[in-house]
Parts: sequence; structure tokens; C-alpha cells
Amino acid sequence: MTSWVFGYGSLIYKVDFPFLERRPATIEGWERRFWQGSHDHRGTPEAPGRVVTLIEAPGVACRGIAYRVEPAVFEHLDHREKNGYVRHHLPITLDGEAAPVWGFLYVAREDNPAFLGPASLDELAAHIAAAEGPSGSNGDYLLALAQALHELESYDAHVHPLAERVDALLASRQGAGRRKAAD
Ligand code: BEZ
Repeated sequence: MTSWVFGYGSLIYKVDFPFLERRPATIEGWERRFWQGSHDHRGTPEAPGRVVTLIEAPGVACRGIAYRVEPAVFEHLDHREKNGYVRHHLPITLDGEAAPVWGFLYVAREDNPAFLGPASLDELAAHIAAAEGPSGSNGDYLLALAQALHELESYDAHVHPLAERVDALLASRQGAGRRKAAD
């Protein structure tokens, strides 16, 4: 039997699994936050990065992509997202459909050991601009998500301002590197 899985983070743009359908979709009552630590993908155990999770937010809609997948895909995703994420079952509204379908998403709740929790946007940006792990830089992860949401024509009031700050920090660091090389 196939199931739906809703992607709101890297699942929007890093699709390393087979799927039967891919549909822009919305869930109600959740919003993105860069509050989950990553010591296996975008950071290290000594210097974890910050990746996205969802927090409950009544009345807020979260846009993403829903995939209809075979059961084996969950084994792959359970392994890929093993650092504190659990599956949550919920209604998902596919664009163009009146009735929701039921499906799953991966959420990292605040009781998981890798949870880092809230910080100001400036603190989050400084953290993300500095972190790097086996899957690449934390900044690239955030900027890829911001771009993917932009392509979905969805503005995220947490992700996009954060991406602007990180972009500026990385650009100023590159400029400083170029100035240093020219000295
Ligand atoms: C997602 O893109 O839906 C996702 C984000 C974090 C962990 C697992 C999945």
C-alpha cells in the first residue's frame, strides 16, 4: 500500500527516493523553525549545525511538497532523518483537491536529545553561517530551502529573513577572504 509523506525541509529539494506522485501541498497548524541540531548532516558532534523542524502553531499554514511513496521509502527516510525525527500522521491538503489525504511528516520534538531550541534570528544566522558537516555547509542547506520555497511561491517568515542574514554573513566573509588574499 502506498502512503503520502509531506516534505517541508530538505525533502522539498533533495529527493533521493522513488515516488509515484509529487504534489505541492499544505498542512495546517505547523510552522518551520531552525531549532533542531544536526551532528550527522550539517554539523558534527562537536559543533552541531541547525536544521529545520516544525512547531505547532494553530492557525498557521505550512507549504511543502507531498510525495506518494511505497513503504520501502520510509525505511530510507527513517535512516536519513534518524537524528531525533519521528513520524507524525496528519491530514495533508494537495493543491487542487478539496478533501485532504492522510500522510506522514518527520518532526523533531523538543524532547529529543539533539533539540537546540529557539534563539534570535541573528544568533541563528551566525550559528548556521559557521556550521558544516558531512552533507555540506549549514548555510547551503538553509539557502537551498529558501530557494525551493521561493520556487513554490511560498514566503516563510522564519526561513526567508534568516536566509537573508546568512547570505549577507557569507558574502561579507567571502569579501574579507578576498581582501586578505589581496593584502
Ligand atoms: C522534510 O523535509 O520534510 C524533513 C525535514 C527534516 C527532517 C526530515 C524531513
